[in-house]
Amino acid sequence: MAARAFAKRGVLGVQLHAELEILGGLAVLADAHIAVGNTFDGAVFVVELCEYVMPELDGAQFSRGRVAQRLAMTMDIRSHSRPKEIQDFIDGVRVLFAAETLTKEARALAVQIFALLEQPGAFRFETRERFPACDWLDSTLEPYLGADNAFGQVARSIKALDPFIGWFRRTTVTNASENFLEGHANGMICGPGGIEDRPDLQLGFTIMKPDVRYPDHGHPPEEAYVLMTPGQFRKDRGPWLSPGIGCGIHNLPGAIHAVRSDDNPFLALWCLKN
Ligand SMILES: [Fe+2]
Repeated sequence: MAARAFAKRGVLGVQLHAELEILGGLAVLADAHIAVGNTFDGAVFVVELCEYVMPELDGAQFSRGRVAQRLAMTMDIRSHSRPKEIQDFIDGVRVLFAAETLTKEARALAVQIFALLEQPGAFRFETRERFPACDWLDSTLEPYLGADNAFGQVARSIKALDPFIGWFRRTTVTNASENFLEGHANGMICGPGGIEDRPDLQLGFTIMKPDVRYPDHGHPPEEAYVLMTPGQFRKDRGPWLSPGIGCGIHNLPGAIHAVRSDDNPFLALWCLKN
């Protein structure tokens, strides 16, 4: 039975347990949207059902903590306040973009972006298309998950937000490696198409498999990156640089730049002012 059917019929117990294990949280919520006609009401309805049968739910895929977290996030969105997980991401990234290891220009851009983020945007609580490189996210974040610092906060918040991230890929391939399309994914947290959907800025990250070269590209918005893994940057077709974890680069509007991974996966945070 599809989740939409049990949402309509209110089926509980073993049947719901099985559905949750098969479908995982987000598919259930997406189906509930169809069943109830409204994403938020549907999400709350299904999560409340989960709470009801919680004693039967013991699978790692749908643990009590994850259900409670989903419910809290849903309720934040219903009340039009920013979900804690997005705020945690913003606060952690703000610390990383204030580091002395970045250039003055990068830090100045970040100050402008985080000032804009004092005002929340609109929230999108929905399942998104995922790409093959997204499968590298868990193992790339894993070393940071227990860290009591901004890297840890960013990693934990990305993991919590993972099901809702606005994934997209660049399709231009100038000088890119052959594995580029399958080897990368961009995750928008705040910005056009992001979980917090807004036109004025972009805050998110790029994940790449090992040995992927991102294409040479430029864009009107000014941009700054911070690395969470090893990785290389190149500006204005100059030499490749390895600034190191916690460091990054700053790109003026229109400047041509590229990144590439070594034999590790690559994860870099970025912020752009649109
Ligand atoms: Fe860029």
